[in-house]
Amino acid sequence: MRSMEFLGSHILSIDQFERPDIEKIFSTSDHLLPYAKRERITRILQGAILSNMFFEPSTRTRISFGSAFNILGGEVRETTGIEATSLSKGESLYDTSRVLSGYSDIIVMRHHEAGSVSEFADASRVPVINGGDGDNEHPSQALLDLYTIEKELKSKNKTIDGLRIALIGDLKYGRAVHSLCKVLSLFNNVTINLVSPEKLELPFSIKESFSNSSVSFFETDDIKEGISDVDIIYMTRIQEERFSSRNESDKYKGLMSLNQEIYTKNCEPNTIIMHPLPRDSRPDANELDSDLNQNPNLAIYRQTDNGLLIRMALFSLVLGVDKKIEDSTSEIAWYSDK
Ligand code: CP
Repeated sequence: MRSMEFLGSHILSIDQFERPDIEKIFSTSDHLLPYAKRERITRILQGAILSNMFFEPSTRTRISFGSAFNILGGEVRETTGIEATSLSKGESLYDTSRVLSGYSDIIVMRHHEAGSVSEFADASRVPVINGGDGDNEHPSQALLDLYTIEKELKSKNKTIDGLRIALIGDLKYGRAVHSLCKVLSLFNNVTINLVSPEKLELPFSIKESFSNSSVSFFETDDIKEGISDVDIIYMTRIQEERFSSRNESDKYKGLMSLNQEIYTKNCEPNTIIMHPLPRDSRPDANELDSDLNQNPNLAIYRQTDNGLLIRMALFSLVLGVDKKIEDSTSEIAWYSDK
């Protein structure tokens, strides 16, 4: 199996990775844990600049990429929203990329159009990481999800090979689900329960790609059936921003909801609960009820913590400092109880 060259590469799709590449990202993440937990400081990226270009709303992806770069010692320049940039004056992605790559050592970009981050990367003189492009892909989310899955299963003496997972909600527009399905195809004997309203089913192209893997799947619109025989439940939000109107997206809100009662009655003991977040906590949606917040099997905040590590690992590998972290370390000087 051929390993990928991380140094100087764009990270645009989860399809770029084979299993050894993922193992490398995960071992790098493990190595960076003391820095993410602020037990130690590294300044290995001192002088480097990240341009964090989020042309679509984000909380955790934007802040965790920025924090990851800061923790490694680099500086972050940020734009949020197209209206705050000259894209709103008609400037092309090509020109924007040529300009920004002169100011930066690496760029993270999110944009509402599928394929836009690739187009931007083609014009860039520095590596570009896809922070989510329309309904297409969210590769760093899939990596942090997979890392979380591995850790959660390990605590139960299980592995990703043999995983049983239910993907629930908006499987049509959910880019996190699209990337996760692709990466799960690298593993052996994975069973995926695809649980969605019929109109929001997983795109055919991804289902078709399962035939080249050992993934087996079945589809249902019955959440109780879908969650009854799995190790992991992966809930998702209705991606209302991808629909033609709010009226259209509202038709699907509240159809697939998980709460403690449904969980207790239908799941195997200790089934792990994940969600890429944000969850839609408005009463008409509420796909993941807050009455699960104290359930020890709820892994959503372990996912978000792991996002910092995975993004630190990606910067380290792409910028070629993964083996040099210890060259530039010291103890922290402030109070920390993480
Ligand atoms: N999971 C995720 O992409 O969250 P944000 O939209 O808040 O970045």
